[in-house]
Amino acid sequence: MDFEAARRRVEELRSTIEEHDRLYFQEAKPRIPDQDYDDLKTELIRLETVWPDLARNDSPSLRVGDDRRPGFKTWRHRVPMQSLLNTYSEDEMRAFHQRLVRAAERDDLQYVVEPKIDGVAVSLTYEGGRLVRAVTRGNGIEGDDITENVRGIRTLPAVLRTEVPPGIIEIRGEIYMTTEEFQRINRQREEAGQEGFANPRNLTSGTVKLLDRTEVAKRQLAIVLYGLGYAEGLRLGTQDAFLRLVREWGLPTVEKTWVVDGIDEVWAAIEELDAMREGFAYATDGAVVKLNSIAAQQAIGATAKAPRWAIAYKFAAERAETVMRDISIQVGRTGVLTPVAELEPVRLAGTTVSRATLHNAQELARKDVRVGDTVVVEKAGEIIPAVIEVNLDRRPTGAVPFEFPKECPVCATPTIQVEGEVARRCPNLDCPAQVRRRVGHFASKGSLDIDGLGEAVVDQLVSRKLVNSLSDLYRLTREDLLSLDKFAEKSADNLVQALEVSKTAELRRIIHGLGIPHIGAATAGDLARAFPSLDLLLAATHDALVEVEGIGEKSAEAIRAFFDQDTNRTLLDELRHLGLNPSAPEASSGTGGVLDGKVFVMTGTLPSMTRNEAKVMIEAAGGKVTGSVSKKTDYLLAGESAGSKLTKAEKLGVSVVEEAELRAMLDPDRA
Ligand code: IVH
Repeated sequence: MDFEAARRRVEELRSTIEEHDRLYFQEAKPRIPDQDYDDLKTELIRLETVWPDLARNDSPSLRVGDDRRPGFKTWRHRVPMQSLLNTYSEDEMRAFHQRLVRAAERDDLQYVVEPKIDGVAVSLTYEGGRLVRAVTRGNGIEGDDITENVRGIRTLPAVLRTEVPPGIIEIRGEIYMTTEEFQRINRQREEAGQEGFANPRNLTSGTVKLLDRTEVAKRQLAIVLYGLGYAEGLRLGTQDAFLRLVREWGLPTVEKTWVVDGIDEVWAAIEELDAMREGFAYATDGAVVKLNSIAAQQAIGATAKAPRWAIAYKFAAERAETVMRDISIQVGRTGVLTPVAELEPVRLAGTTVSRATLHNAQELARKDVRVGDTVVVEKAGEIIPAVIEVNLDRRPTGAVPFEFPKECPVCATPTIQVEGEVARRCPNLDCPAQVRRRVGHFASKGSLDIDGLGEAVVDQLVSRKLVNSLSDLYRLTREDLLSLDKFAEKSADNLVQALEVSKTAELRRIIHGLGIPHIGAATAGDLARAFPSLDLLLAATHDALVEVEGIGEKSAEAIRAFFDQDTNRTLLDELRHLGLNPSAPEASSGTGGVLDGKVFVMTGTLPSMTRNEAKVMIEAAGGKVTGSVSKKTDYLLAGESAGSKLTKAEKLGVSVVEEAELRAMLDPDRA
């Protein structure tokens, strides 16, 4: 390669890398795997080394990306937040150790091996033991203030559990989302016809940057802390001691770390981690290996971009190639059509995979996946396998583009494309596939929890046309049930009984069971508390709905749209005539606590606790927390930037209290 060719390639690499940085850090929509990205950077660094005249101090080879977004206050990190060098092989790991041996002039080096969590890096500042700030990495020098969203993380204490906190400490960690939570959110989105998120990292990075706190509250984020940024008046000898200290302070840390001597033990720990990571609640994409001694870390130092004393080892994303025999179409509870690849079974990440999602019609068309194609499937952690791409070299002759059905494969109704949604839907509410899903959802554990009404029974009821809607469930007779496969007198009687009992299920279960788009179990609970009967909920206006804690604009719209539909109103009337009579939300427990029977509403940000913490405290003392202010409200607990609830409370003459007053009520002796 001559200089001119190198110059052209360097320019090309820089602009490609910049584009991928933008996709990754700003849009949270990476288009290429990490390893391919690292290969681009490695090539750029190599060329800049061979042709020093091409090196520039603003080259992306020297930068960590930038996640800053407009609309956020920024803060400068007291100590820059660096990135880590990635490695992908045992040889590269051993080369890292050799570099350190040479630099330290000794070979008895001790390391800590930690799981690498694939999430969003954050720096927390605690002053006098209180959490005052949470900031993203940003460009490494300064990042976005996401304090309010981080305060909502349930497992993160607002106050360190110690009598002698350091004056100021910046602790680094990773915000992430469990695989289970990720799947729950994606299921909900798919049912609402929205595009699912590609992976938990993207969803996490999108969530920490949401400005609407009610939306953030609906997604459960988690956090681990693994690094020291800056500390005033704290002397620590090792990384291991640091991890033990933060654990003692009550901060969440990764579930397992290894303190090991020498590179052979490092490698053994990495292999052990690889074998056990499938059992973790979150996606682990590698290991981080750190020199244990902090004095040795400081002696070895850092480059402009990354410390020299630590390195990441990335596990290969698990992918496999296999032939796609067919594409089937699944019809969801709300009629969304999801294309599914039917595969030649293949081993992947420890399981045999024979189906993978193709997401939606748009994605399928973009990838141009055809029946008979050899496809690459990927499974990251516990996440449902997905078709990543087609191996075009192995496309059979005569393979034709897949034509997305214009009709529902189950009931043949012409499908529709709703504006603003990526999904196609079957609009027929009586479509047997939808009925089956709706009934299944109504009977499921999180809804009415009807014993004996599992999937197989629902399938039979719907295909024999004994059940065409939710209300038909309550028209079933013992004789109907006896006509089903595997049903005897006893099982029929039990199911009749279970159906009878379900008529008085708690209101929140019934609301959830109706399957209103966007309304999960937690929101259903919020609704039931704010509107303690179906009639009240049915009559609730959009404005009254958004007043409820946990309900945003979108959910309010979905609720109104659901109850305004004639079919749904008829359904509710029928259910009522058949005896459905939800039990009122549980009244206060009558614990004899100091707040027995008192009704609280919260608004604004509290100075030292999250709303959830406040709620737990109030409930423990026998009080109750509801979503909207009414004449029944005893106290409005108001924090900073209190909203319309404060105005309403003042108008109704409801007592307004601050956090300090609440604390005094809870602990009168100390006040
Ligand atoms: S230590 C000076 N430890 O991975 C850099 N990072 O690819 C210190 N990460 O920037 C980072 N788990 O956001 C460290 N146990 C762990 C980690 C971890 C995940 C993230 C972190 C880092 C990135 C590098």
